[in-house]
Amino acid sequence: MHTQACIFDLDGVIVDTAKYHYLAWKRLADQLKIDFTEKDNERLKGVSRIASLNIILEIGNMHPDDRTKEKYAALKNEWYVDYIKRMTPDEILPGSIEFINELREAGIKVGLGSASRNTPLILKRVGMRNLFDAVADGNVVHKAKPDPEVFLTAAKMLNTDPRFCVVFEDAVAGVEAALNAGMICVGIGSGKILTKAHFVVPGLAMMNIEKLKEIERKARI
Ligand code: BG6
Ligand code: MG
Repeated sequence: MHTQACIFDLDGVIVDTAKYHYLAWKRLADQLKIDFTEKDNERLKGVSRIASLNIILEIGNMHPDDRTKEKYAALKNEWYVDYIKRMTPDEILPGSIEFINELREAGIKVGLGSASRNTPLILKRVGMRNLFDAVADGNVVHKAKPDPEVFLTAAKMLNTDPRFCVVFEDAVAGVEAALNAGMICVGIGSGKILTKAHFVVPGLAMMNIEKLKEIERKARI
């Protein structure tokens, strides 16, 4: 086995926070009278807070100045934090802890690569901070996925060659970021949406070391 590290996205892979992002953005869109659907929301997954806001404003054909944009983003984040500050370990997605523990026991490093600046709060709420050898999040990385910066930063923190890292991602932009980093990417969700991933599973409950080896073999052919 060549894999030296596995790097996980947070929202929608480890925890089910994608629904809270959607609810908070939807509330803002409703206030601005912008018709924002769950389908539009797919485009927001994995991208930064301000890039998400820009997509919503584009849908509503609105062009506010930068100060107003900052106000909107802060409002959304206030509503979002209201949800996540109440999170419990029950909201960890099935299979995440088991798979991460299996990796750790096998001596494979475990990293987190997320655009979210709320990563520390979420990890604290669900009690998972100690499971990650490195955390690259929106507080240390500034280029939004599909830029590879977040995954390359995680690989660097883990002292690992990107070619020997496997990324787990639920967002189209995140899959592209992993590929742009030269890493193997396992999509979490639907193969119809994550068409560029090397392999797609519905969730981490489907993952174990044997499956990882199989994915690695297929991706390297
Ligand atoms: C990503 C989410 O993980 O983080 C995006 O998929 C979100 O939907 C982004 O916009 C930034 O998150 P935050 O918590 O910093 O607003
Ligand atoms: Mg995600």
